[in-house]
Amino acid sequence: MKKSSIHSLQDARNLAKKKLPSMIFDYVDGVALEGDGDYSNSEYFRTLKLSQNVLAGGGPKKISKRILGQSYDLPFGIAPMGMCNLVSSKADVAIGKLAKKFNVPVCFSTMASTSLEKTLRVTGDLGWFQLYVYDDLESGLKLAKRAQTAGYKTLILTVDVPELGRRPKELKHNFSAKFRPSYKQILDCAMHPKWSLDLLINGIPRPQNFDKDLKIDRNKPRGAADWEFLKKLREIWKGKLVIKGILNPKDALKLERLGADAIYVSGHGSRQFDSCPVPIHQLAKIRRSLKKSTVLIYDTGIRNGEDILKALCSGADFVMIGKQALFSIAAEGFEGLVQMTNNLKKEIEIAMAQMGTFDINLLDTSNLESTFKLK
Ligand SMILES: Cc1cc2nc3c(=O)[nH]c(=O)nc-3n(C[C@H](O)[C@H](O)[C@H](O)COP(=O)(O)O)c2cc1C
Repeated sequence: MKKSSIHSLQDARNLAKKKLPSMIFDYVDGVALEGDGDYSNSEYFRTLKLSQNVLAGGGPKKISKRILGQSYDLPFGIAPMGMCNLVSSKADVAIGKLAKKFNVPVCFSTMASTSLEKTLRVTGDLGWFQLYVYDDLESGLKLAKRAQTAGYKTLILTVDVPELGRRPKELKHNFSAKFRPSYKQILDCAMHPKWSLDLLINGIPRPQNFDKDLKIDRNKPRGAADWEFLKKLREIWKGKLVIKGILNPKDALKLERLGADAIYVSGHGSRQFDSCPVPIHQLAKIRRSLKKSTVLIYDTGIRNGEDILKALCSGADFVMIGKQALFSIAAEGFEGLVQMTNNLKKEIEIAMAQMGTFDINLLDTSNLESTFKLK
């Protein structure tokens, strides 16, 4: 077996930086404005501590989870990400294969460069679909119906991109979904021959989930959807409906009342709103404002297995991983994604041993020690 080259998020990020042209690396790595949101969230994660309990005895740890009517072997899956195939032509398929290998959910984006029908063929019922709604609400409903017809059972509506965030790292490359590299960028691609060859053989990835007659413009506002639209979506979507990008307990409560099956607390990987409230802090507040039975999913800033446990202790029922997955694919393809998943799994089990806890489903704030007072 090949020796593992990824032992941490930093390993994956460093390898990805070497293997990708800077425009693509910066697309994945970019955050909004000054990166204050990213900084505050990481700092808050650092202040959260997991309580230690010794002499609890050995034995296997239960780390499986049941949410939204389905059982998963791990407490985490892969968050929706657009244009993953810019990292490798096989990225969407690798994510789909990961779902099958580990029995975990993975979510495909409206902006994916593999069609939603094709990704579902790889994942079976482990695939979720993420919906962006642009200015044309009817097209949004149409895409949801297409996902339903294809056989998706879980739909995630992302609501935290009313306008695309300004990410200086993307802007400096004039990055766009149309991917028309400048002369300087062509030179950069030439310095990464393996990546360029993949692109030459497999073609430039293009969004595959839009109507042929719809003009694709990634910079178009996605803020037309409102509470009325959500009611309509709730009526037509027969499966589980998850609302992603929630940071405000009041919004969460309103969504709970409206019949959302899960609320997805997320700061969009700090890519959208630099001054947003700290996502991992909001998670605990949102948990306290909702019914115990309401499912909470969390992402943003997860670095390792201990961070996953911190999110679960703060009230999440499930956690999703974003850019770390793309760095791992850039680093080592599907094998990199497998390494990342095994690392996270092992880190969870080791930390649970330190915590003297055997069932991940029993974690709550009593397992958490914080140097900050939670308001
Ligand atoms: C390259 C990239 C593309 C993304 N595209 C989408 C998308 O199309 N839809 C969406 O809901 N979120 C998207 N996200 C946000 C992720 O779903 C997720 O919220 C975020 O990456 C989690 O934070 P993390 O990267 O720190 O783990 C994207 C994130 C990245 C890194």
